[in-house]
Amino acid sequence: MDHVTHSEAETSRLGEELAARLGSGDVVACFGDLGSGKTRFIQGVCRGLGVREHVASPTFTIVNEYGGIRSRVFHFDFYRIRSAAEILDLGFEEYLASGGICLIEWAEKAGDLLPERRYEVTLALGEDEHTRAVAISEYRGVPA
Ligand SMILES: Nc1ncnc2c1ncn2[C@@H]1O[C@H](COP(=O)(O)OP(=O)(O)OP(=O)(O)O)[C@@H](O)[C@H]1O
Ligand SMILES: [Mg+2]
Repeated sequence: MDHVTHSEAETSRLGEELAARLGSGDVVACFGDLGSGKTRFIQGVCRGLGVREHVASPTFTIVNEYGGIRSRVFHFDFYRIRSAAEILDLGFEEYLASGGICLIEWAEKAGDLLPERRYEVTLALGEDEHTRAVAISEYRGVPA
């Protein structure tokens, strides 16, 4: 689904709507330049998942963990990651297998480590400072 938002609240609301579709083990891979709104979107997802802690980009810690109503929530920011090996080292595959919901900023850094079954959210700067294009799609993996 392609959307255009005109405020950070609207982007966050799209995240909140996506949260209603998420369950244990789901992955949301977010793409988009610096300041495109990945964190705002994920803040909305977290609100929809019932997270009460403060949600901010884990740029230096790489991963934050929150408590949602239905499951744990892992919020990754791979901006500073330089190789897939670093992502493996932090235990990414264990997080994916843990049953928690994984929300990922700069998901392109994970490359092939992303599971085939995932939501992809691509954000782009719009024509003015309050406008963003937000594309949301669901991948279910290659059919057997
Ligand atoms: N329509 C909009 N949607 C989301 N953010 C918006 C919008 N309009 C303006 N903004 C502003 O853009 C910025 C988005 O910042 P945010 O931290 O979410 O980006 P990000 O993609 O996570 O960046 P980074 O790569 O640095 O982590 C905020 O300052 C927000 O107020
Ligand atoms: Mg961010």
